[in-house]
Amino acid sequence: MPEIIFRQPTIDDAQAIVDFYNIVGGETTFLSFEQDEYPLNVEDQVQSIKAVAEQKNSVMILAFENDEIVGIGTINSSNKIKSRHSGELGIVVKKMYHGKGIGSQIIQQLIEWAKSNGITTRIQLDTRCDNIGAVELYKKFGFEIEGCLKNSTLLNGEYYDLYVMGLLLDK
Ligand SMILES: CC(C)(COP(=O)(O)OP(=O)(O)OC[C@H]1O[C@@H](n2cnc3c(N)ncnc32)[C@H](O)[C@@H]1OP(=O)(O)O)[C@@H](O)C(=O)NCCC(=O)NCCS
Repeated sequence: MPEIIFRQPTIDDAQAIVDFYNIVGGETTFLSFEQDEYPLNVEDQVQSIKAVAEQKNSVMILAFENDEIVGIGTINSSNKIKSRHSGELGIVVKKMYHGKGIGSQIIQQLIEWAKSNGITTRIQLDTRCDNIGAVELYKKFGFEIEGCLKNSTLLNGEYYDLYVMGLLLDK
């Protein structure tokens, strides 16, 4: 198991975050964006880092090995009173680091952070039903399959279903 450092980003990480997402977008079809299709440029990412830092119910956690980002986990929530308790989880680990426990550590940290922020009581996500590794990872941390969005993803002419998964947190 490599020695991995976890921390939240500063604006100095913006370029590396954008580069990371643009690379991993080409390593898997399980993300919503493809290679070089990450929707934020560096300036957008700087603004996003600042905005997330000001929100008590949103976070980004970076996983580093030797100063290189090898994984990122996020929880994004709105500020709306009726839905601010519900965070949307995203996670990706660089392909050559899969299966080393980094995804599990990121999820663990996201859940611990969510339990202690005073707002979040629900974490949700959607994932392709055939993304067995991710589905099993989420189940390992208590996420339940709550529903199925049929034909939600269209990839190379084929439709794929998505599971909606959720985890309710005790306060
Ligand atoms: C999903 C992802 C984040 C997992 O990261 P990771 O660092 O490889 O995960 P870990 O090594 O911590 O955990 C692996 C866990 O996932 C599950 N898992 C992984 N591959 C599996 C497989 N082929 N079959 C069953 N379970 C599997 C197991 O629960 C395993 O835990 P265990 O080792 O304790 O049994 C990573 O594969 C990834 O980035 N995939 C591409 C992007 C993606 O799919 N993101 C999620 C979109 S919803």
